[in-house]
Amino acid sequence: MMECCQPGILDEVPPVARYLTFAIKNNNLVKAGMSALSDLVDGVYTVCGIGQTLVLALSKKVPGLGSFPASDGAGFAIPSTPAALWFWLKGTDRGDLLHRSRAIERRLAPAFHLSHCVDAFKYKTGFDLSGYEDGTENPQGQAAVDAAIVQGIGVDLDGSSFVAVQLWVHDLDLFEQLSETEQDNTIGRRKRDNQEIENAPLCAHVKRAAQESFQPEAFILRRSMPWAAGQGAGLVFVAFGKSHAAFESILTRMTGAEDGKADALFKFTQPITGSYYWCPPLLNNRLNLSILGF
Ligand code: HEM
Repeated sequence: MMECCQPGILDEVPPVARYLTFAIKNNNLVKAGMSALSDLVDGVYTVCGIGQTLVLALSKKVPGLGSFPASDGAGFAIPSTPAALWFWLKGTDRGDLLHRSRAIERRLAPAFHLSHCVDAFKYKTGFDLSGYEDGTENPQGQAAVDAAIVQGIGVDLDGSSFVAVQLWVHDLDLFEQLSETEQDNTIGRRKRDNQEIENAPLCAHVKRAAQESFQPEAFILRRSMPWAAGQGAGLVFVAFGKSHAAFESILTRMTGAEDGKADALFKFTQPITGSYYWCPPLLNNRLNLSILGF
């Protein structure tokens, strides 16, 4: 089973990464452009996802893939920004990432054009730029596979994964003005020792997102990484799932749609993109795109 998912999904986040988003430039060339894809993606250092716009352009269907739901809440909006292709380039050297992304761009032209590119990095041992450890409650080992990878559905889908990607922009000035207790109550964990605060407010992020509190339980495999460019900084939130259901349940509760209590995170950070992709499985170390007719 595990041999056929893109292993980079399960691996730890790398020291540096680059996320590329492509849009379709020429519908007539999309089929030809797809043949380059398998050469470009090893699934280990380059993880790739395919969006609904591309699936539809190929007149195909990937069961479980749809478009990211836009929504809103008190004082914030969650946008949906669909795209055709998503790449997560993992590495240790920013220069290499630049050259690898240029090579991908060249190979995918003229069918696709790069619509968004962001450089990301690991902060300390895996912290968010707010100063809190990120990923503590991620499922591990077999539990991670069970949360993130499609199994037992059928050939050509087994080994695949559904990923949700959002670019969040932090207002670090605002966050830094909060007292340490206010910051801790925003996240629901103590910055000092990463301990969960049992009596944290209901709007604290980990209270909203507690995976076991959902019915059914909503486990996702988060592989988010901080980003910074110019004056801007934040988190590229990346969550893999065996479907989009768990992510969607958590996000809905975060907006306050269920009980009017929006996640306290929104006070200092907001998403400016939101997309869903299907990450194809590997067959003999190459992307298995049979479901799309390749
Ligand atoms: C900028 C945005 C976000 C930041 C800074 C952030 C940060 C954090 C931090 C610091 C934790 C605690 C440690 C951990 O268990 O990882 C956490 C937990 C978690 N977050 Fe987020 N998060 C963000 C967005 C989201 C979104 C959009 C979702 C899903 C829709 C989400 C889902 C979760 C889950 C499932 C947990 C673990 C909860 C549990 O079971 O205890 N996060 N996040």
